[in-house]
Amino acid sequence: MSLPDDAPDLLTIADVAGRTGLEESLLRFYESEYSDRLPAKVLHGDTLFFTAEAPAAFREVHRVHAAAPGGRPAIPRYGRVIAVTSGKGGVGKSNLALNLGIALQRLGKMCVVVDGDLGLANIHLLAGLASGPGVLELLERGRPVAEIVAPGPEGIGIISGGSGILALADSDPGQRLRLVRALAEVERAAEVVLVDTGAGMGRGVRDLLRAADELLFVLTPDLTSLADAYGLLKGLLQESPAIRHRPVYSVVNMADTLQQAAGVALRFDECARRFLDRGVENIGYVLRDATVGAATARRTPYTVFRPEARVSKHTHNLAVALLRQELPELAISSAFGRYLKMLQGSTP
Ligand SMILES: Nc1ncnc2c1ncn2[C@@H]1O[C@H](COP(=O)(O)OP(=O)(O)OP(=O)(O)O)[C@@H](O)[C@H]1O
Ligand SMILES: [Mg+2]
Repeated sequence: MSLPDDAPDLLTIADVAGRTGLEESLLRFYESEYSDRLPAKVLHGDTLFFTAEAPAAFREVHRVHAAAPGGRPAIPRYGRVIAVTSGKGGVGKSNLALNLGIALQRLGKMCVVVDGDLGLANIHLLAGLASGPGVLELLERGRPVAEIVAPGPEGIGIISGGSGILALADSDPGQRLRLVRALAEVERAAEVVLVDTGAGMGRGVRDLLRAADELLFVLTPDLTSLADAYGLLKGLLQESPAIRHRPVYSVVNMADTLQQAAGVALRFDECARRFLDRGVENIGYVLRDATVGAATARRTPYTVFRPEARVSKHTHNLAVALLRQELPELAISSAFGRYLKMLQGSTP
């Protein structure tokens, strides 16, 4: 969104931020909380802009908000919760979630990877961490939330479930509640939370997918991967219309060529547009590379084992593409808060 040349009095949110010195996410928060005290936006072309009075009005709202009785209420800010998922198992979710986390961390984002996987190659093994007590065990022992996040490679945090926390939590509502409360706390501290949803599609995983800020579908050139991903997205949209408004991306893994990867992503997007009435934006690809297997054998993430390898570069590109998609309004809503509401019986 840029300032139209012929309308110098119209301001973008970046302009208002520049003139007031207030962050864009804070301006969006004020917009939602104090809409009655702010001037209406005006339509120019097909975009809404702020008017010239907006900076002064925002400054006033900021002053009033800061002087609110009881002190300035903390403005909630949450990290992006991105669920890494697939219809079919074995497509590379765990490897991608871990290495994408490392790539994001290298780009300066504080990243926590949550292992919801039941598979054998789970995150702590791929990351070379010793197996310790699982997250539920720690929560049961009353450990503070900070302790459930294990320090992982290159500064990322890892929450490992031991045996698939989301699936495990499926069985016991009390544990699920405890877990989601802890995850909500993590969401406050991290900038990006990547959840490897594992291959299981139980209630816990589906609820989490419905609550996540963004969904990242991992596809492979295998035909069943596409069909299963489509089936999963269709089911999710039927269960929760709110997903229609959330970003859904695809990444193609284990393709042999770029053309093949592009073809897979295109087919998924086309099917979704045609039959589900929504698009799925492709944010990149990771080609098949023997480095992944070699890194796993050494219990080292491939981006650490061989940062210069093709697969590591592709993963870095993915991280960059994800950061380009950052939506300021996501910072003021809590994905695990939504999840909690679902657990307590109200559907978002
Ligand atoms: N880009 C790649 N090139 C080559 N091999 C890959 C690539 N990505 C993943 N693999 C291999 O594919 C297999 C599955 O990977 P991974 O365990 O990450 O998938 P997953 O989707 O998490 O599986 P599950 O559904 O069982 O949890 C592993 O053997 C891994 O080494
Ligand atoms: Mg896995």
